[in-house]
Amino acid sequence: MSFLKYKTYIEEGDLVIAYMTRENMTPLIIDSKLTYNNKFGTFKHSDMIGKEYGTKAFMPSHNGRGFMYLLHPTPELWTYVVPHRTQILYIADISFITTYLDLKPGSLVLESGTGSGSFSHSLARTIAPHGHLYTFEYHEERAKAAKQDFEEHGLSDLITIDCRDVYKSGFGITDLVSAVFLDLPAPWDAISSAKAAFRQRRIGKICCFSPCIEQVQRTCASLNENGFVEIKMFECLIRNQEVHTIPVYTVKDAVSKIKTQQDKKRKRREQEEDPNHTTKSQPRQDPPNLYVSKTPTEARGHTSYLTFATFLPVLDGEEVIK
Ligand SMILES: C[S@@+](CC[C@H](N)C(=O)[O-])C[C@H]1O[C@@H](n2cnc3c(N)ncnc32)[C@H](O)[C@@H]1O
Repeated sequence: MSFLKYKTYIEEGDLVIAYMTRENMTPLIIDSKLTYNNKFGTFKHSDMIGKEYGTKAFMPSHNGRGFMYLLHPTPELWTYVVPHRTQILYIADISFITTYLDLKPGSLVLESGTGSGSFSHSLARTIAPHGHLYTFEYHEERAKAAKQDFEEHGLSDLITIDCRDVYKSGFGITDLVSAVFLDLPAPWDAISSAKAAFRQRRIGKICCFSPCIEQVQRTCASLNENGFVEIKMFECLIRNQEVHTIPVYTVKDAVSKIKTQQDKKRKRREQEEDPNHTTKSQPRQDPPNLYVSKTPTEARGHTSYLTFATFLPVLDGEEVIK
C-alpha cells in the first residue's frame, strides 16, 4: 500500500490506523491470523478485511459495545503513531516549515537527520510525484528502520536515505536542491556542506530546527558567515480549541434557580427539625445547553525554534532563476 494513493478497501498486509480517540490511535498491519485487543474489546483483523477505509467498526467484543475507526494512513496520522526512535516533528512545525521552505510538487530537498522519519513522510507527500528527498542519518539502526518504513509506505521512489555522519563527511551533493532542513544537534557544522548542495543559480531556502536558543545563536552566526540572507527565527505553539457545553440561563431561569435553591435549603432545614417529614422531589428542569469553544489555559509546550534563511546565488552577470 502507499501513503500517496488512497485506496477504498482494506486488504491483507495493509497498514490501518485504528482510531479510538484523538489521544488513542494505533497502527495495525492487517494479518488475518491476528486479533487486536484494547480496553474496548477484541477486534479480529479478518473482520476488517474488505471494509472501507473510514469505517466505524463495531466488532464483537467482551461488552459488545466496542468500536474504532479504521483510517487510511496519512503523514499527519503517522506523526501520532510512528514508533519514536527519536524526538519527532509534529504537524504545527511541519506545515510551517513546508510553507516557508517553499516546497511543492517537484521540489528537490535535503534533510538531516532522518530520525524517526516523521517529517520525511510529509516531505515525500508534498514533493510527489516528481520531486526527491535526500535524507541523511548516521545512526545505523535508525537509518535501516526508516528505510524499511519508506519501502512499506510506498515512498522509496521519492526518498533516498544515506547512512553517514554529515558533520564529518558532508552531504556529497552539489548544485542540486532548492531546500535544506537540518534537525541536528549542531547544524552549524553542516551548513557549509548544505550551501554547496543548493542549486547554485537558484534562490534556495534553509531551515534549522533547534530546541535551545544557544543553538539558534550559533546557527545564525554560521548562516551569516556562509552568506545566507533573510535570517529569521520562529517558534510554533499549538493551542487546541475544545468544544464544551454551558447552560444558558435567562434572567427568569436564574431567578427560578435561586428560588429552587432557597426552597431546597428551607426543606432541608424542615427535615432536620422534623425527622418524620418527607418531601417529594421535583423533576429537574435543566436549561438548554450552548456549545462553546474553550482553549486550555496553557499552550502546548515548546518543541523547537525554527531558524530560516535564504540562499542567495552570487552570479557574475548571470540571471537568477526563481
Ligand atoms: C531529532 S532526530 C530527527 C527527527 C526527525 N526530524 C523526525 O521528524 O522524525 C535527529 C537525528 O539526527 C541524527 N544525527 C545527529 N547527528 C548526526 C550527524 N552528524 N549526521 C547524521 N545524522 C545525525 C540523530 O541520530 C537523530 O536520529
